[in-house]
Amino acid sequence: MLEIEGLSIGFRDVEPPLEVVRDFSLTMEPGEIVGVVGESGSGKTMTALALMGLLKSRARITSGRMMFEGRDLLTLSRKGWEEVRGKEISMIFQEPMTSLDPLLTIGRQMEESLRLHTDLDRRERKRRVLDMMEQVGLPQPEKLYGCYPHQLSGGMRQRVMIGAALITNTRLMVADEPTTALDVTIQAQILALLKKMNQEHGTAILFISHDLRVIRSICSRVVVMYRGEAVEMGSVEEVLSSPQADHTKQLIAAIPDRENRLRGGKERS
Ligand SMILES: Nc1ncnc2c1ncn2[C@@H]1O[C@H](COP(=O)(O)OP(=O)(O)OP(=O)(O)O)[C@@H](O)[C@H]1O
Ligand SMILES: [Mg+2]
Repeated sequence: MLEIEGLSIGFRDVEPPLEVVRDFSLTMEPGEIVGVVGESGSGKTMTALALMGLLKSRARITSGRMMFEGRDLLTLSRKGWEEVRGKEISMIFQEPMTSLDPLLTIGRQMEESLRLHTDLDRRERKRRVLDMMEQVGLPQPEKLYGCYPHQLSGGMRQRVMIGAALITNTRLMVADEPTTALDVTIQAQILALLKKMNQEHGTAILFISHDLRVIRSICSRVVVMYRGEAVEMGSVEEVLSSPQADHTKQLIAAIPDRENRLRGGKERS
C-alpha cells in the first residue's frame, strides 16, 4: 500500500546544507500498524510531514520515491494532495495548536473532512461529530461543539485533533506522538480507539512515538530512527528481544526497570 524508498529531506538554506532524513525506506501492507521510534530530533516528524505533502517550504525532499496505492505522491499537484489528504491518508499532529484554526469552532473543524469528502448533510455530520467527541473522551459534546480552540485545555485540543483525523475512515493514518500530551487513562482510551479503527476498518497506521512501551502495545513492526536514518527495522518482538543497533539498545535500556522485567516475563511465557 505504501512504499517509501530512499527518502532524503534537507534544508538548503542553512550552511552547511542540513540533511535531516537520509535514505529512509519503508513499506506498509494494508491494515498494518507500523511504529517509528527514535530520540528527539531523529527525523520522525519530518518523515511524516513529507508523507502528507506538508513539509514547510524551507524543507525539501532531496531524493527518493513515495508510492501510495500505486500513486506517486511526489508528483501530486496541490489539488491532487487535497484529494488524498483527509480522504485516504489522515494525520494526527504532534502540535495540536498549530493544526487547529483558532478562528473556527471545534465542531466545524471536526466535521471538515466529512464536508470535503462525503455527501452527508449538516445534521448527519453534526451527529457524527458529537459521537466522535464521545469516543475520544471529550466531555459535554453539545457544549464543546460551538467552542473555540483557546477555550480548551491542551489535552482536549489533542483529542479534538484525533477525532478530526478519525472521523473519515482513511486507508492510512499517520499518528505523530498522538498520546504523548495526554494523561494515562486518556492515553489508553486513544490507543484502544486506534486499534478498534484498525480492526473494524482495516486502517493502516504509521505510529510515531519516542516511547517503545506504547509502540509495543500497538504495533506489529517497528522502524528505529537515529539521526535521520533508519538504523533498524523488524517485528516488534524481534527488535525488542534481540536489538541490533546501538541506538535500539539505548532506547530499550531507557524503559523503566519494572517494564523491562515485565517484557522479559512476557517473552519467556
Ligand atoms: N525549520 C527547521 N530548520 C532547520 N532544522 C530543522 C527545522 N525543523 C526541524 N529541523 C531539524 O530536523 C531534524 C528532525 O526533526 P524532527 O522534528 O523530524 O524530529 P523528531 O524525530 O520528530 O523529534 P521529536 O521526537 O522531538 O518530535 C532535527 O534535527 C531538527 O533540528
Ligand atoms: Mg516529532
